[in-house]
Amino acid sequence: MNDKLKDLSTKIKASRKGGGEERIEAQHKKGKLTARERIEVLLDENSFEEIGGLVTHRSTNFGLDKTKFLGDGVITGYGTINKRLVYIYSQDFTVLGGSLAEAHAQKICNIMDLAMKNGAPIIGLNDSGGARIQEGVVSLGGYADIFFRNTKASGVVPQLSAILGPCAGGAVYSPALTDFIFMTKNTSYMFVTGPNVVKTVTNEEVTAEELGGAETHMTKSGVTHFACENEIDTLNHLKKILEYIPQNCEELPYHTAYEMSNENRYELDQIIPENPNQPYDIKAVISSLIDVDSFFEVQQDYAENIVVGFARMAGRSIGIVANQPAVLAGVLDVNASVKGARFVRFCDAFNIPLLVIEDVPGFLPGTDQEWNGIISNGAKLLFAFSEATVPRITVITRKAYGGAYDVMNSKHIGADMNYAWPSAEIAVMGAKGAAEIIFKREIASAKNPKKKWEEKEKEYAELFANPYNAAARGYIDEVIFPHKTREKLIKAFKMTENKKVDLPKKKHSNIPL
Ligand code: HXC
Repeated sequence: MNDKLKDLSTKIKASRKGGGEERIEAQHKKGKLTARERIEVLLDENSFEEIGGLVTHRSTNFGLDKTKFLGDGVITGYGTINKRLVYIYSQDFTVLGGSLAEAHAQKICNIMDLAMKNGAPIIGLNDSGGARIQEGVVSLGGYADIFFRNTKASGVVPQLSAILGPCAGGAVYSPALTDFIFMTKNTSYMFVTGPNVVKTVTNEEVTAEELGGAETHMTKSGVTHFACENEIDTLNHLKKILEYIPQNCEELPYHTAYEMSNENRYELDQIIPENPNQPYDIKAVISSLIDVDSFFEVQQDYAENIVVGFARMAGRSIGIVANQPAVLAGVLDVNASVKGARFVRFCDAFNIPLLVIEDVPGFLPGTDQEWNGIISNGAKLLFAFSEATVPRITVITRKAYGGAYDVMNSKHIGADMNYAWPSAEIAVMGAKGAAEIIFKREIASAKNPKKKWEEKEKEYAELFANPYNAAARGYIDEVIFPHKTREKLIKAFKMTENKKVDLPKKKHSNIPL
């Protein structure tokens, strides 16, 4: 028996060695942790239970039968983060470059199946050279098996993908199917085809970092939701997001205890500039409204004219969607609409109530926007809000113009409570443009057209640039003092916490993709 126990210990030791000391050192030299070190940093101490540590591939091609590593280049299992169960896979770049083939994929699928059956988040730590070239088509099959499960798990359990090294070719599609992507600056990249192929096909000279690094996907493509400073920062972001989201679609997010006291925030009474065209920072409004330092912003440097992220309101986890008047006047464009829509759908799928803070002059005009489909992309945001059944509350701080008024969680599309500050301007369009259109002839025939225009602009503004017409029709539930907003929101979120809405019976909706 002792020999058998020794044999087991030897095997376990071998499986823990990954690709060996030399490759581990190479990994460290690149500023990267190993697959096992990452799990240690991420999970609660001693909570990791490995599954499939003795799995090996069955391939004999190109001498692979002599290159077998226990575990086959991916560590899979379960453990806890802040005492909550998570399933995890961590690709080991020191073993065949973390490349994925039949056995490697089966291990990932196994923990995805367990996560689905047991209702807990799936975390993927990606660091892989992609399809294992020696194994051919079984690698492609393995990827597709994962994609299929990603899709089935979508909206059932949260799926989080950290990119901690290469992620190229079709491999990018598993992270893309998950809820949130976390990339590490300078050591990770994602692209469908690398710089060499790009050079051959389009003659463009581009580095891997420029083509698909964390900064690129944060600022240009919007593919990643977080661009983190280093690996530890990336793993800390994964831990952080879990604080705001539930284990699965049938549970509620964790709610910390909170006693209401003085919730007045007088600084908000002075935050809107006298001049309606002057910008201010919506993040200052957000931080006054939420629990201290609780904002966890998503896609911080992408489509900055809309701000989205998680926060706590009297201990309750909420999702915030806010126009940002400090960037492009807070206008809705293609990228902002898609960013907002995706976030709304995540919150709705996982029972996270939504707070919308609105100051929007409308949709961005122009050929660029029209030709890039502002119609169907704007419709995504409209659709996402309309379909959401979680508690939804809107605060209009200043502008709510045109179609953007409807889209930004108006009562007409199912919001539960809509508040407006006295500075709100709820109208079809801004007074200047409106006066120009409806008083065109009068202005043209006036002795002093400029003066006439200003006069008419003032007349229109006095009539419509306020919240009271909308309040008179019940489109706004209450016009409130800004300093009272936090208290109103705390009470309204409590009042709507048992909200139940049944959507009409259907197979699934057809969001304008
Ligand atoms: C098998 C691989 C591998 C792969 C790397 N290795 N990628 N083995 N299949 N795809 C092995 C290397 O042979 C090497 O083994 C070890 O991993 C480390 O690789 P290096 O090249 O030494 O590392 P580095 O210089 O850091 O370069 C990393 C790399 C490069 C940029 C990822 O290895 C690379 O370009 N690999 C190929 C990438 C690729 O074309 N993959 C297929 C994409 S298509 P030793 O034994 O020396 O340590 C795809 C389709 C998926 O993935 C479709 C899904 C639908």
